[in-house]
Amino acid sequence: MAARRSGRSARPPPAALAARRTGRRSRRPSHWPPQWPPQWPPAARKSSPVPLVVPIGHDKWDLSCLFPATSREVGSSYCRSVPAGDPHGKDAAAKAVVQEGYDAVSRRYRADDADPPAYRAWARILTAALPHSADVLDLGCGCGVPMARHLTALGHQVLGIDISRTQIERAERLVPNARFIHGDISDTALEPGSFDGIVCLYLLIHLPQPEQQELIHNMRVWLRPGGVLLATTGATAWTGQEPNWLGGGAAMWWSHPGADTYRDWLTEADLTIEHDEFVPEGASGHQLFLARKR
Ligand SMILES: C[S@@+](CC[C@H](N)C(=O)[O-])C[C@H]1O[C@@H](n2cnc3c(N)ncnc32)[C@H](O)[C@@H]1O
Repeated sequence: MAARRSGRSARPPPAALAARRTGRRSRRPSHWPPQWPPQWPPAARKSSPVPLVVPIGHDKWDLSCLFPATSREVGSSYCRSVPAGDPHGKDAAAKAVVQEGYDAVSRRYRADDADPPAYRAWARILTAALPHSADVLDLGCGCGVPMARHLTALGHQVLGIDISRTQIERAERLVPNARFIHGDISDTALEPGSFDGIVCLYLLIHLPQPEQQELIHNMRVWLRPGGVLLATTGATAWTGQEPNWLGGGAAMWWSHPGADTYRDWLTEADLTIEHDEFVPEGASGHQLFLARKR
């Protein structure tokens, strides 16, 4: 289930999917067409896997140094009052609302056995663009279901990062073959060129907009040459909150520009958009992008 909001003006979906494939692929997947359902056991791992994540300037396996104390304690240390939302500012209070909101609604948002059909299609799109046994970063991974679960079942090595401790605790239990880190992605330093793929589904829309553009640049840095980003973004411009999201007793906050701005940000980050599709959800929707680092 995707993030749903009320009080938004819906933009009519584009008449047709605008899918573009340009240029050559530097890392053509050798397992086309992708298999679905995933094969079990998954394909053999690479003979010499590299670490997924290496904190810059620190021992590569000491993941605790990725996050400053403030981000580990984000929920309790920030003011709880919610501003209307400043799409252009760094809004710590809004970010705390997001983290506390997902702690509260984790299970309402996604059941342990949820299997939304759209994610199957997206896993296929991504896998078709990845090498075998790829290193994949799942930003805002939630409880790991379904994307990290799909990707590990397809034989990929997945590292998930999420600001909600509840989401991460569930992910560790639900997808034991993946690795997960609790923290704010905006405070995270990862080794450049570490990943074949990055999944970023319904995450950007929860960040203050300057951090969204910064994260898009960072994602390009974290990808290997030829690596791909699969992201859902806002389709229309909107910033706002709901006081009792999904009836879970907690607020939620979103902020996003329209799809044209995301196209500009991806292009400015030197990522080539290969797939660009409006995803309708009730009266509104999001935009799905597959973009490649050349
Ligand atoms: C709408 S949910 C999507 C979860 C998952 N990507 C999916 O599509 O099923 C957004 C997730 O992003 C996480 N998130 C929001 N802001 C974050 C941040 N600054 N750093 C890391 N994770 C964040 C939330 O805790 C939540 O689990």
